[in-house]
Amino acid sequence: MAQAQDINAAKEHFGTVLEQQLARVEAMKREGPWMDYSNISPIIIGNLGGDGIGPYIAADAQRVLEQLLADEVAAGKVQFRTIEGLTIENRAAQLQSIPLDVLEEIRACHVTMKGPTHTPEQGDGWPNIESANVSMRKHLDLFANVRPVRVPAQGIDWTFFRENTEDMYAVGSQGLNVTDDLAIDFRVITTQGSRRIIDAAFAHAKRTGKDHVTIVTKANVVKTTDGKFLDIAREVSENYPGISWEGWYIDLMTAALINPARQKDFQVLALPNLYGDILTDEAAQIQGGVGTAGSANVGKQYSMFEAIHGSAPRMVREGRAQYADPSSMMRAGAMMLDHLGYTELGGKLNRALDVCGQYERSVVMTGRSNGATGQEFGDYVVATVNDSSLDSRWEAYVNS
Ligand code: IPM
Ligand code: MG
Repeated sequence: MAQAQDINAAKEHFGTVLEQQLARVEAMKREGPWMDYSNISPIIIGNLGGDGIGPYIAADAQRVLEQLLADEVAAGKVQFRTIEGLTIENRAAQLQSIPLDVLEEIRACHVTMKGPTHTPEQGDGWPNIESANVSMRKHLDLFANVRPVRVPAQGIDWTFFRENTEDMYAVGSQGLNVTDDLAIDFRVITTQGSRRIIDAAFAHAKRTGKDHVTIVTKANVVKTTDGKFLDIAREVSENYPGISWEGWYIDLMTAALINPARQKDFQVLALPNLYGDILTDEAAQIQGGVGTAGSANVGKQYSMFEAIHGSAPRMVREGRAQYADPSSMMRAGAMMLDHLGYTELGGKLNRALDVCGQYERSVVMTGRSNGATGQEFGDYVVATVNDSSLDSRWEAYVNS
């Protein structure tokens, strides 16, 4: 009975998946408190270039951060470190999504800035290893993918809290071809995983003076897992009496995001991993494209800051890598500053990026040699951060 054998093999595989996920739940129960950077000196910031345009835009962003943090570096409070080896060539050669020595160097830093890395897919010539992003999120338990989208002139100020370690991603590379005809993937949602992301969203709302959180699911159809996410939202919300919340379905949400009559209603949004992956690309497009959006991958102990887009190998092949827009990495840098407690500096960098990229545009990037290089754009951003007219120029932009 070939079929009985297939089913038994599948049951065994499923059993292993369950054991791994239950072990993860136990680990989450033991997890420590949030890292307090005010006690740490020096704070070590690792830089991982990645693939394609990654090393270029990561270097552009690092140059900006080094200038903004020059006093802190001089005082020995902050240290920058370059980590080599998170490249597709090295990862493929070692058949590891993150080579172990690289992972060790990452763990020796408090936070990292990471350029985009190539994600292999079946048939693209590279071994089909797990995405470096997904792997890093899992290894360092970076459970909160925080993705802000701002269009101040349209009153859009959204912060997405995408769960980053569960859902279809938790065992995304351990799905099962039960027979030649039946393929099954697993969706994982846990109490602990839902609670910590939803709590992070509510806490962010509270810290930044927001009064509404939107929870996005498809709980009318995906009843068990999304149902749990929604139940936990209900429970967590009770700890935040000043903050209202509402559940939305992902399909209607994709429409609401592009509805000008609705856009201002959303402030902080929390959602499971895959819905968050998709919705944040849509949201980034409203701000000017994925090239303009930064992303924080935050855990209680480690954090990693990155662009939300890919490595654009074509730009490198065509010799245009130095013209790649580093705004996304600089936005990620602003999030890192905020995360480390340099909140004012992070705010200034964000306002400068608004002014430089969305309003004045005195230095324009086109992605080609008829536009500025990432380095020139970076110089423009630093000059704008350091200019006493920054706030008035930003006000002019918001009122334009
Ligand atoms: C993202 C990316 C990744 C993801 C890919 C590269 C695996 O799309 O950061 O949104 O799906 O999470
Ligand atoms: Mg994505």
